[in-house]
Amino acid sequence: MKPSTKTPLPEALAQLVGRSVHEIDTPALVIDLDAMRRNLGRMAEFSRKHNIRWRPHAKMHKSATLAKLQIQAGAAGVCVQKTSEAEAMVDGGVHDVFITNEVIAPHKLARVAALAHRVVGDKGQLAIAVDSVEGVSRLAQAMNDERTRLSVPAIIDVFVEIDVGAGRCGVVPGPAALALVHEIRKHPALRFAGLQAYHGKAQHLRGAQERREAIAAVVEQVINTRKLIEGQGLAVDLVTGAGTGSMVCEAASGVFGELQAGSFLFMDVDYAENERDPAQPNFEHALFVKTQVISRAEHHAVCDAGHKSHAIDSGLPRVLALDPDRELEFFNGGDEHGILRPAGPKHRLPGIGDMLWLIPGHCDPTVNLYDFMVGVSGGLRKGSVERIIRVDARGAVS
Ligand SMILES: Cc1ncc(COP(=O)(O)O)c(C=O)c1O
Repeated sequence: MKPSTKTPLPEALAQLVGRSVHEIDTPALVIDLDAMRRNLGRMAEFSRKHNIRWRPHAKMHKSATLAKLQIQAGAAGVCVQKTSEAEAMVDGGVHDVFITNEVIAPHKLARVAALAHRVVGDKGQLAIAVDSVEGVSRLAQAMNDERTRLSVPAIIDVFVEIDVGAGRCGVVPGPAALALVHEIRKHPALRFAGLQAYHGKAQHLRGAQERREAIAAVVEQVINTRKLIEGQGLAVDLVTGAGTGSMVCEAASGVFGELQAGSFLFMDVDYAENERDPAQPNFEHALFVKTQVISRAEHHAVCDAGHKSHAIDSGLPRVLALDPDRELEFFNGGDEHGILRPAGPKHRLPGIGDMLWLIPGHCDPTVNLYDFMVGVSGGLRKGSVERIIRVDARGAVS
């Protein structure tokens, strides 16, 4: 499916700019822009301090506008997971894009090759991950076809993905990775750019020490694989990986040259449940679903946000407690409803018409439910709408 880059901005949303947060219709996906900018600044400072590149994962926000903000703040470009996300980024003016995933279908690889040639015109660079000989030869075929068609010698950066413990994509570290490097080097349109070593399962290990141990094992596998490749006189220019949960460990390793963390920008409930590593910047929640109470019973209230308004794969949302006597717990009310109960005997229920702010359990699939995000500055209590941000790659899952 092609991304919804052309979805027109609805008049009602356009007119919200400059208006009070109280006027945002519900349910709506709202970014606290002040908190988001602080997160961005903290990430930029962290990377500077550790002398490491950051290439945030844009699969999380799916917005070319936010990708460009990140690049202005110092990011080396962005990561995406899908070909159609990469297209949405390039269409939106982002020219340095890394598809951190395997692409195998020839018709998709033709689009990847077309993009690789397109970004070169803007002094950009496309990169992609591979984990099979078949993947390398299909990619090379697509690049050669596009080169012949355009007679422009574009080169795509290719990272060998190694499976460092997540049990998802990735070739086994060691000799199998070296064999793939040799395979890549057979093709003039492909440049071996380095290793991708992302450990997805380590991100939400709750204890900081557990995450440190998991990433220590990752680092060892990377060092051994790198040694093997360098032993043949081949350079490993970059080791890339890391998510918000483990990035402090990869940054301290001295082995990783690039961090791919994405969720730090918005911070969801799932990440808030991790024990914070003291070395981790203090990232704040910046993404909220604004909702309104539409019904009230003696012991519960009902709001207008159910799982069509927020993803529940990582658990239900948390209600932001703006007032100390208003701590509420959110319970599943189905597709269009959320059930709210006081968190304890001291807390009171909200009244009909009251506005509430939910912190999503998982930001990535929540963003994918919306065409637009409402950017607010000046706080959620008294702020106003600064801008509307398009989710360019909404539904771009192919
Ligand atoms: C390959 C890869 N890199 C980086 C990330 C970023 O992780 P996070 O958004 O948890 O920071 C992900 C997320 O799933 C990923 O799949």
